[in-house]
Amino acid sequence: MSVKVYVNVHDLKGFSIKNCPVMEEPSGVLMCAPDHYQVLTVKNPYMRGHIGGVDLPKARRQWAEVKEAFDSAGCPVSLIAPTPGLEDMVFCANQSLAGTRPDGQKVALIAAMRHVSRRREVEAFEAWYAERGYRVVKLKPGGHATFEGSGDTVWHPGRRLLWGGYGFRTDAEVFTQVAEAFKTPVILLKLVNARFYHLDTCFCPLTPESVLIYPAAFEAASLELILKIFPIVVTANETDAVARMACNASVARSRTAIVQKGSLSVANHMHALGLGVCEVDTSEFIKSGGSVYCLKQLLW
Ligand code: ARG
Repeated sequence: MSVKVYVNVHDLKGFSIKNCPVMEEPSGVLMCAPDHYQVLTVKNPYMRGHIGGVDLPKARRQWAEVKEAFDSAGCPVSLIAPTPGLEDMVFCANQSLAGTRPDGQKVALIAAMRHVSRRREVEAFEAWYAERGYRVVKLKPGGHATFEGSGDTVWHPGRRLLWGGYGFRTDAEVFTQVAEAFKTPVILLKLVNARFYHLDTCFCPLTPESVLIYPAAFEAASLELILKIFPIVVTANETDAVARMACNASVARSRTAIVQKGSLSVANHMHALGLGVCEVDTSEFIKSGGSVYCLKQLLW
């Protein structure tokens, strides 16, 4: 199959999701305990006003609740040991993107983080994957482009197709390497609103046919791409998208949507689409710009 990178609707001429091979479900998720979690510098607008302001015991309880939610939804949680001094390592979505190739080979593509303070996080992930038989792939050496893993690259449910976000943390040029690493086509979406600095803050596929988005996060041409592929596009209202990071939800086993509590506009859509909704409180992590989706990495 071709491993094309699609950037606009004209590229999609002749493209049909039905022609994308079926992709197996993730086997579980990877998480990292918040032992060293803190807000130390402002890397995104959420972090403003929260320097040194994390209530760690509360964060630990909230993280345990998220872990329990994945476990009970039938998504076993694997753990990676937290490294002292790496305060953002708890956000397991960013250091890598895991998946498979069409021949079944498990692949982990290692991130190149935008912020210097997060660059050391990736070493532990490289080792974790290598010990478990993944083919560990890195971006071509010498490049300056950045790539923040599954924060900016989201698998389409059930199909061999990736969605790639760029504009703040990830550079568009890396997606040819992403497509190559997984032998999977990528549709690119441009992020234009700093509040929604990672794709997973504004784009959450709920089922193979439906996606939850926050439209103002995207350039118009990217919205067109989303509308072209998903027959059902539902939106979060501004309060849910911004204050509750409701688009940073995660659907476990195609059945249960795990989402920040109180996100009514979003929970109603999830129910209407036949999903169970499990509400969790991630308020201590929202102080750093993350919620359910970015506290874990999907594993195959
Ligand atoms: N404080 C972290 C950062 O700015 C939060 C990362 C959240 N991750 C995500 N995938 N949205 O890098």
